Amino acid sequence: MISYSTDNTLLLLPGPVAIHPRVYAAMNVPIYGHRTDHFRKIYAECVEMIKPVFGTTSADAYLLTGSGSLGLEAGIINFISPNDTVISMSAGKFGERSAKIARVFAKEVIEIKSPYGDPSLPEQLEKAFEETSATLVTVTHNETSTAVLNPLEDIVRVAHKHGAMVMADTITSAGGDWVKMDDWGVDIAVSGSQKCFGLPPGLGFVLASQKAVNHMLSIEQRVPSFYADLVMFKNAVEKGSGTPFTPAISLFYGLHESLKIIEEEGLENRIKRHHQMGYIIREAMKAMELELFAKEGYYSNTVTAVKIPQGINWGDLNKTIQKLGLIVAGGQGSMKGKIFRVGHMNIVGAREALLAVTGIETALNKLGHETHGRGVQKAQQLVAELL
Ligand SMILES: Cc1ncc(COP(=O)(O)O)c(C=O)c1O
Repeated sequence: MISYSTDNTLLLLPGPVAIHPRVYAAMNVPIYGHRTDHFRKIYAECVEMIKPVFGTTSADAYLLTGSGSLGLEAGIINFISPNDTVISMSAGKFGERSAKIARVFAKEVIEIKSPYGDPSLPEQLEKAFEETSATLVTVTHNETSTAVLNPLEDIVRVAHKHGAMVMADTITSAGGDWVKMDDWGVDIAVSGSQKCFGLPPGLGFVLASQKAVNHMLSIEQRVPSFYADLVMFKNAVEKGSGTPFTPAISLFYGLHESLKIIEEEGLENRIKRHHQMGYIIREAMKAMELELFAKEGYYSNTVTAVKIPQGINWGDLNKTIQKLGLIVAGGQGSMKGKIFRVGHMNIVGAREALLAVTGIETALNKLGHETHGRGVQKAQQLVAELL
């Protein structure tokens, strides 16, 4: 049988993701200096073109060279003082990451934990504010480790009622699901390049509302930082020098192209496609009598987490799926061996959804979990309805 190499595998991971050939082509050009009009123009256009993806016309966009976690760090430390209390809502490994970052820099972090698979809820935040005050609330919009979409808008409403700002980790929602910074009042939204933006890893995006920017500029005692100091990024943009440090130039060429692709598809169409693909994958999994890990009503549209059926070993399942030229993700932390996750971000469409379901079903059948073709049949039926 054909064996698929690493450069010929369809990535169905919740990041990094399969990349559009136009983005590879845009990056595969000679490097030019970043202190030039040529690069400054590309950077300035990226700053403007990225804003609609976050549902904002007025926020500042800081485009950092570093992964999404650098964005989270910058999104927290620039908006608090070392004496502040932060409330971190966590419902999975990435909510816990924001809490961990906050713990390094804030005086106190109150972590509101939800069981894995459950969402973070506004009433939990309301309850926390009965006992404490805080200047910043961190929350993960789309919790990639559990495939749960948290009710961000409602959480922002509660935080604002109690005078706190919200830093939303939108790393696996922006570009694949609605993030409406202006409408929902999100103060700070963070994302990264290797998810729904469809780029290689290496860029982190921090969008800050004018309220958040004014707060950042008014903080007397700032959290010390050099590389993640957003005031430096702001000054660099205002001076027209682009970025304060050497940016990952090729990735910015790629970002420029991927933002063009998003514009051409139209954000609404793009998000609708992500919703459709998420629905097809979830329904196909259910047709195979597999159980979804996320609580019903809070399903992510960019990643699906599925409980591994009894008698199936994750290592064997992973290897078998990879033999078919596909790669999905396992569970993280205590979810390892118990769930697998299918990413459906960026260019995933009907073709990829059909391949994903076929590959997973074939591998499960091979390992003894018989499904009588029900998964593929369901996926085919749902795809056909879209044609
Ligand atoms: C929701 C979420 N937050 C944070 C991160 C961390 O991002 P990075 O690995 O780019 O630092 C990820 C990565 O998977 C994520 O999915």
